[in-house]
Amino acid sequence: MNRTPVLRHHCTKGVSLGVFCLFASMAVSAQSPVFQNTLLPEPSRMTTASGSIPFTKDFTVSLSGAHNVILEEATRRTLDAMEAYTGVQLNKAPQDANATLTIQVQDTTGTRPTLDTDESYSIDSTSNKVILQAKTVFGALYGLETLQQLLQVEDGHYAIPAVQINDSPRFPWRGLMLDVSRHFMPLPVIYRTLDGMAAVKLNVFHWHLTDDQGFRIESKRFPKLTLMGSDGLFYTQDQVRDVIRYASARGIRVVPEFDVPGHVTSWFVGMPEFASVQRPYAIARPFGVWDGALDPTQENTYKFLDAFIGEMADLFPDEYMHMGGDESNGKDWKATPHIVAFMQAHNMKSTEELQTYFSTRVLALVKKHHKQMVGWDEILNPGTPKDAIIQSWRGVESLSVAAKQGNRGILSAPYYLDGMKSAERMYLDDPIPDGSTLTAEQQKLILGGEVCMWAEQITPQTVDSRIWPRTAALAERFWSTRETRDVPDMYRRLAVESIRLDGLGLTHISGPQSGLRQLAGSEEGSSQLAVLISVLSPGSLHERYSQQKTSQLTPMANPVDYTRPDPPIREELVLLVERYLHSASPTEHTAAHQQLTNLFQSWIATGAALDSVAAEHPKLNQLSLRRAQLPKLGLLGIQSIDSIESHTVPTSAWVEEQSTLLKAAAEHSELTNFAILPPLQQLFEAAGKQ
Ligand code: ACM
Repeated sequence: MNRTPVLRHHCTKGVSLGVFCLFASMAVSAQSPVFQNTLLPEPSRMTTASGSIPFTKDFTVSLSGAHNVILEEATRRTLDAMEAYTGVQLNKAPQDANATLTIQVQDTTGTRPTLDTDESYSIDSTSNKVILQAKTVFGALYGLETLQQLLQVEDGHYAIPAVQINDSPRFPWRGLMLDVSRHFMPLPVIYRTLDGMAAVKLNVFHWHLTDDQGFRIESKRFPKLTLMGSDGLFYTQDQVRDVIRYASARGIRVVPEFDVPGHVTSWFVGMPEFASVQRPYAIARPFGVWDGALDPTQENTYKFLDAFIGEMADLFPDEYMHMGGDESNGKDWKATPHIVAFMQAHNMKSTEELQTYFSTRVLALVKKHHKQMVGWDEILNPGTPKDAIIQSWRGVESLSVAAKQGNRGILSAPYYLDGMKSAERMYLDDPIPDGSTLTAEQQKLILGGEVCMWAEQITPQTVDSRIWPRTAALAERFWSTRETRDVPDMYRRLAVESIRLDGLGLTHISGPQSGLRQLAGSEEGSSQLAVLISVLSPGSLHERYSQQKTSQLTPMANPVDYTRPDPPIREELVLLVERYLHSASPTEHTAAHQQLTNLFQSWIATGAALDSVAAEHPKLNQLSLRRAQLPKLGLLGIQSIDSIESHTVPTSAWVEEQSTLLKAAAEHSELTNFAILPPLQQLFEAAGKQ
């Protein structure tokens, strides 16, 4: 077969405008007989050939005689998804031979993924057969995910294109951390998060189960922890076992985190005897760093931790356990005479040294229970045992220091979703950055990365729109080659994957839409509101905190909660303005002109319409400034285009007025930021250059 390197298609993207769509990106592929690569993450090696397999009712599957429940279930799920996508009813019973899709797995004994599981797979599809091969069941699961993404429309029919893929991940640790303490996340959130992770080949669910604001895991040994520290919002051990089974069946490891010695206020509500300072403890409602810390000088503390870690080690089968270690401010230690005396007796000059003593003891307990310990980068210093894994949240440098010391590491610092940065900004940050001074051997100690979703300002209703689709872009950073860095191409594929993820039951698109209907009280009103919301993004954790002083008790069903970080229109408007200003093709220029005009007109129309919706729904007045600014920005766009088209130099009064508007719009305000200002600024500047 004539294999050719795969083409990257920078196809024209649709500009979605709230609930409208000016033209649909999928329509382009619907009419194209050419293979459209919408795989995300991008496979490490892929070649395409001409031809494809039509996807019809005759599509069948063979497992080559393998009997493995995980493989059988995953195959079934894949066929279900393909049926749902195409409307084609299949005979899903596995065939003995002569199937369209043959799955061959060397080792079919897998029941649970581990850090060293072989995750590679290959897909060889011709014009009549697909062969999926993998060494392990878990590699096969990734192959099945890729197969679903390969299914596409060619010449008005569904088909699987002829491709050869040899794929394996760049990093073995590709995680998502979810905080369920600040806001409890009920089981449906956990399950759908795992579905999304599996779809984009993430393989570690880091479950941040305890923090100042809630102790979310049932302890049978120490029931007061949950009884008094959780407001009744926690997971039973049976529920945890079910989650682990579900995750394992999707190739995902579950790594629990029990954050010590700080971030333990909720522990002390039921068990104050392990606190350094005796004071009344209640579940913390405000966020931030609390002074409460375990007493590291008492043997009872370690006896308790030994029993607790032992119980959790039995519950969580993964070989790794996260013991936190972040933001322990040392204040309570310094304020406690017997702790100060302990430090002096052991010649410790700082509370950091005392924390190293504590971490070393905790690590020994974790090892005693046959686990390896992960901790945040505060646990790193020259005395840190070599077998501790460092998760860096404060910067990439600590990973470098850790690797030079011989410690393995996981990068999280650039991947904090609550910073509300664009997918692009996070995507370009590599776990092994340019100019890294690590040797090849040291680089192997960088296990990968983890996206972090802290829950101060999210609820079960909004968590998905903060995690997705940005996390899918980061999944590519952790899976695909270092050289996979084409941002427009990533966004093109992400737009397709985002829709698919929402179809899996994630609610990053549908949730905010539902929220807007609640805010506006009608479908018509929510369509108007969607125009405004589509161009805004939520402020970062710190921006929002500084304006609102959020706590666990703050209502979070406000307009800002239904804005989306990195809303699709941000990247779309960048491309549209680029085409309008720079396309060499007159047809493209004219089309972009028309689309921009429609878009800006909709902003102008929305202002007045929303005024009447807000009159009935006062909560919308939380965005009264943004509501007033949007039509003005629309007018700025229209007038800039008029100026460019007519080659008219704008008056200095107009330039001054628009500059003031753009400056005001760029201020963080009403908990939101406009996401569309840079391309608007570009248009405005182009108008000024006539
Ligand atoms: C952290 O963000 N305190 C790990």
